[in-house]
Amino acid sequence: MTQDGGTKCPCGLDEAGFVAGVGPAPCRIMLVGEAPGATEVRKGLPFVGPSGQFLSLLLSEAGLTRNDVYITNVVKCRPPGNRKPTPSECRSCRDKFTGELIDVNPQVVITLGDTALKALTTGVSLKTAHGLPLKRGEYTLVPMYHPAAALHQPNLRATLLSDWRGLQSKLERPSPPATLPIEMVGDVADFFKVYVPLAVDTETD
Ligand code: URA
Repeated sequence: MTQDGGTKCPCGLDEAGFVAGVGPAPCRIMLVGEAPGATEVRKGLPFVGPSGQFLSLLLSEAGLTRNDVYITNVVKCRPPGNRKPTPSECRSCRDKFTGELIDVNPQVVITLGDTALKALTTGVSLKTAHGLPLKRGEYTLVPMYHPAAALHQPNLRATLLSDWRGLQSKLERPSPPATLPIEMVGDVADFFKVYVPLAVDTETD
């Protein structure tokens, strides 16, 4: 129970602020944000506030519309005061999020901001990996800056626009070879404009 008599979601946040994901399922492309804001809670839909408007523009830069994508958030309830969801809130919403991943069965997952990137990867830095497709078994993950970041830091706007403009062509490029000499990793990553996960075999020369 919340103080005003409402109920709590398993994440511990007020269930009145719950906003479900939206879009076709299955769907080729899934976008994952952080948590809904006040406008999203009022309208009951993800990314319909100011950052959502910028997201629509970014989608159009990639030749996409909202009808082409499934949009959701790691945490489905609004954290008070628009604060970042805590790691424990993210963990509590994990089952819902995993269920969505199974239903939507995307080929491409685009994470919007650090919270979504951390929910799906470990050790990937948004600063170096933004805009670069990363193969994750069943799907390709593309880390992107959160659209709201450009509203707060205007110098990120050009980076976001360029990452989204380059999205289709990067997704269409073939994957780099599975094994290659260590000296070539940087060149291949540069050429294909991909983020290359690296395993080093220390037992051979
Ligand atoms: N920011 C998010 O991360 N998600 C929304 O739905 C809206 C703003």
